[in-house]
Amino acid sequence: MLPQISTGTLSSRARLTSNAPEQQLDGKWHFRLSRSLRGAPDDQWQTAECENWDEIDVPAHWNLQGFESPAYSNHQMPFPLDPPYPPDANQIGDYRVDFDTDAALQGHRVVLRFDGIESAAEIWLNGELLGTTRGSRLTQEFDVTASLRESGNQLAVRVMQFSDASYIEDQDMWWLPGIFRSVTLLGRPDGGIEDIFIVADYDPATGAGTLDVKVAVQNDVDARLTIPALTVDAVAKGPIEVGLVEPWSAETPTLYDAEISTASETVQLRVGFRRVHIEEAQLLVNGRPVMLRGVNRHEHHPDKGRVFDPERVRAELSLMKRHNINAVRTSHYPPHPEVLDLFDELGFYIIDECDLESHGFEHSEWRRNPSNDDAWREAYLDRIRRTVNRDKNHPSVIMWSLGNEAGTGANLEAMSSWVKAFDSSRLVHYEGDWSSTYVDVYSRMYASHAEVGEIGREVEQPAPITATAAEMHRRTLPFIQCEFGHAMGNGPGAVAEYWDLFEQYPRLAGGFIWEWIEHGLATTGADGTRRIAYGGDFGETVHDSNFVIDGLVSADLEPRPGLIDYAAIIAPVRIVVAADRSHIDVANRYDMVSLDHLELVWRRVVDGVEIAAGTVDAAGISPRSRTRIPLPESTRSVVETALADVLSLEARLRVATSWAPAGHVVSRGEDVRETVITAPEPTAGLTASASHVGAASFGVVDGALVTLGALPIAGPAVGIWRAPTDNDRYPGWDEAEKPPFADRWHDAGIDRTVSRFISAEIESASLTVRTRTGTPIRETGIEGAFTWTALSSTDVRLDVTLEPRGKWTSDWARLGLDFVIASPPRGMDYFGLGPGQAYPDSASGVSHGWWNVERAHLTVDHVRPQESGSRREVREATVQTDAGSLTVRTLSQPFALTVSPHSRKTLAETTHNADLVADGNTYVSIDLAQSGVGTATCGPGILQRYRVAPQPGRISLVLSTAPATV
Ligand code: GAL
Repeated sequence: MLPQISTGTLSSRARLTSNAPEQQLDGKWHFRLSRSLRGAPDDQWQTAECENWDEIDVPAHWNLQGFESPAYSNHQMPFPLDPPYPPDANQIGDYRVDFDTDAALQGHRVVLRFDGIESAAEIWLNGELLGTTRGSRLTQEFDVTASLRESGNQLAVRVMQFSDASYIEDQDMWWLPGIFRSVTLLGRPDGGIEDIFIVADYDPATGAGTLDVKVAVQNDVDARLTIPALTVDAVAKGPIEVGLVEPWSAETPTLYDAEISTASETVQLRVGFRRVHIEEAQLLVNGRPVMLRGVNRHEHHPDKGRVFDPERVRAELSLMKRHNINAVRTSHYPPHPEVLDLFDELGFYIIDECDLESHGFEHSEWRRNPSNDDAWREAYLDRIRRTVNRDKNHPSVIMWSLGNEAGTGANLEAMSSWVKAFDSSRLVHYEGDWSSTYVDVYSRMYASHAEVGEIGREVEQPAPITATAAEMHRRTLPFIQCEFGHAMGNGPGAVAEYWDLFEQYPRLAGGFIWEWIEHGLATTGADGTRRIAYGGDFGETVHDSNFVIDGLVSADLEPRPGLIDYAAIIAPVRIVVAADRSHIDVANRYDMVSLDHLELVWRRVVDGVEIAAGTVDAAGISPRSRTRIPLPESTRSVVETALADVLSLEARLRVATSWAPAGHVVSRGEDVRETVITAPEPTAGLTASASHVGAASFGVVDGALVTLGALPIAGPAVGIWRAPTDNDRYPGWDEAEKPPFADRWHDAGIDRTVSRFISAEIESASLTVRTRTGTPIRETGIEGAFTWTALSSTDVRLDVTLEPRGKWTSDWARLGLDFVIASPPRGMDYFGLGPGQAYPDSASGVSHGWWNVERAHLTVDHVRPQESGSRREVREATVQTDAGSLTVRTLSQPFALTVSPHSRKTLAETTHNADLVADGNTYVSIDLAQSGVGTATCGPGILQRYRVAPQPGRISLVLSTAPATV
């Protein structure tokens, strides 16, 4: 058996918006599921009575409609690597819909269009086999004129869950069979427009636009092109000079409404003029270098899977725009065709990727990889033709991507040759071709910072002296990271360090975070509550667990902290405040536009109260340039008693756009002046005993806090562990030979420390408790001295000294003081970086302020529970619980604060957030040091400078409490 391609289909062509009649066949269809092809009834199902079948929605995936269940695997094929055969256990979905043909279609030639069927199908109309499909995310059209009746049509589709095509559709996502995109009948008038290919070029030297128009019209009649805004009215053929135009770019997505018509049909298009090319290893759009601030986007909805939902996609893309994202790689298949319209309209640079991945062959060391097997050549070519043809009129598409992780081979090369011959207006991308012989950009995934730096300097290995022609050629190409910053769980970290490199070297044209959205699927638990599921939750025998939960937004589109961090890193404006506040340095990091559409607003807040505000003039700063702008005296006039004086600047949109309201903040900058509070003198006459120091009472057995005022509170324990993040559970690619941090920590015992009370000493009004916190099995431990001094009837001072002992075998996750309040949290107020979490290597999206955090936002509700929620540079915080509040102020350096309704042990042991049960306590950690998060799930681990080596620590705090307000 040879691998198949679609049969009986029409040649692929552009998606056109036409006034020709159409009939939607979406809706309720009859459905019958069989467990295997051989077991599927051969009962004339195409035409027989099917009233007793089940019902299903079209478009939908049957696994999400109550028929069997979805399955997730990354590159592992869920069945034996035995190409081109699917397994016997292969769900077969028989679909039937009976319909009458709309009057408007009658008398026309009629085409039946499927926009997406996973994974292969046989199509029957009125008992006649029209053909078969391959290419799940690709459009397939059949001419049905001969078999269509006026009424009583029976459309029958047999869909295979797996097919030979599954071997080249092994993308890292849920296997979700079914007719999941629309089914449409298209009336094709005589003399109608079959296909259009418009290349709308913009000449940056002259500002002129040129159209290269190719129109395929039935019967070869002439078509006319009109573009009213450009007063174009011409025969739609060949090059047409249109004079001066506004160019299209992601920053200026100018589209011109155009019509192409014949006597019988009018097609509407939106034309964007732009030129994409490479010069001196730089990626240029309209003659200017561009930086791709990208994400990889899969189509995903927690209830509907890959079914298109126009409102949600608009919301999704608007959310991207509001977070400064300007580029999308459509990983790893062309999205629903209308998504491209939105990309054009909102302004994104798109790498449109073919529906192709043969990653499973990595498990046979790439033996029999279809990419290098002649038998699959046509299948590869068919896929790229369908991809390119459908989307070729979209200005947003700047590169065609041959596919993802399909190894290397002649078939990929053949695809590239076809693309280059067909469309020279765009670039060819494929990450798997490291030698870059048949691509136009050098693309990699998860390359380390060091390697990206080398590539930037064009000295990547091997050294130039031994370089082959291909390697020399590669060095003339721009570089992108088509995947970097793996946004799984808490992370990614060290993205800013990549961005600094991208900005430093002209050859580096940016990158695409992996990935935009988490693919969690919504299910209902036994108790009726909503649960987000991942791999293995449906009983799959081969799966990749929560590796599918790795997005900048949750499956419900809630931004994760990684998105907030990324938005700040890639912000198109950078505002740096001079240390003396005399001026700001403003960098315009847009590639095309000035900052005239932004208002630069400053605010000065002293101890929580705004004392001055104003705007500064940032007009006329051209793209990719910097300017110094003076600040008024009121930004720096001396305020004698201030503990914190925050000058913040915001670049805000002056007028609303289609994706954000006026006032939306694009970028921030700040300067902070802080005064360390001096310890108040203790009120005279206060004394200390082994059990009491002012408002604090202690257990005499272990010297630990028992209550503070009326607040039941235990601690502090010395904590050096955290509930492993997803990244902590994987070895970074830079130290793949070492165990992941979670294992190193376990091996070093820091997840199970044991403490011993050494002594309690009283000296005048102070109690000093000494403890040793040790690791099981080993000699390592931390000696702590905790000196408690009553300052007043409510305030207690705590001076802490921590000294590590022994030879540690691992870095720590953190160094902190852990308290447990025996009452559930309500929220917190603090001064520090916020409003969200920050870790040392992912702290770009936070700013200094007086923040209020509700209970639900204390931590991040990761689908797989893990450490989250640390607030950095905190000077003062009040944690509210049902039993009262705890206020902590530092007398020395700021600290990191984590407040959670869950213990770290619970977080580490629970696999799904739906199973987390709050135990009624509030867990408060005051950290002197906290490790970065890195991106070890894919890419480098935590950079050395963000690790916490065993170290001594000191901090002085004031603790007080107040009763709960009702
Ligand atoms: C890449 C792959 C993506 C995804 C990612 C890990 O290798 O291209 O599809 O699997 O790794 O999440």
